[in-house]
Amino acid sequence: MGDDNKARFDALYGEIARIVAGGGDDRAQAICELLRARVPHYDWVGFYLVDPGSPRELVLGPFAGAPTDHVRIPFGKGICGQAADRKETFIIQDVSWETNYLSCSVHVKSEIVLPIFQNGALIGELDIDSHQVAPFTEADEVFLEGVCDIAADLF
Ligand code: SME
Repeated sequence: MGDDNKARFDALYGEIARIVAGGGDDRAQAICELLRARVPHYDWVGFYLVDPGSPRELVLGPFAGAPTDHVRIPFGKGICGQAADRKETFIIQDVSWETNYLSCSVHVKSEIVLPIFQNGALIGELDIDSHQVAPFTEADEVFLEGVCDIAADLF
């Protein structure tokens, strides 16, 4: 991880804070678009939310990138479903080795999924796909945990 990423992530925190402070219903969407546009190894960025009417299912929320068929994911299914089930971050540096995986596109090589909590309860996830193998570092994880903490207030 170079200092470039650290500087990029620090700058993005400031921009995300401005988006959040700006108010409006499209703030989560704006965060997705910002992250996808500004971090070269983030090719698809989206939020999945726990369905209040079916609390063991995730539904696709705001996202930036190619449309996906996976608009509803049961807990336990795919990387997103496993992360929801375990309430843990999953980092898959090479998806070609995964058996419990829902492919969105042949271009996707790796994925990071982080849980989002409100008052200790899981309310959703941040999901990022990359077209690179093994692009995610600890710096990504720390940065995105911070993004999830901020985003939790938007849902
Ligand atoms: N790959 C995910 C499905 C969601 S897409 O990445 C947008 C999974 O295995 O759960």
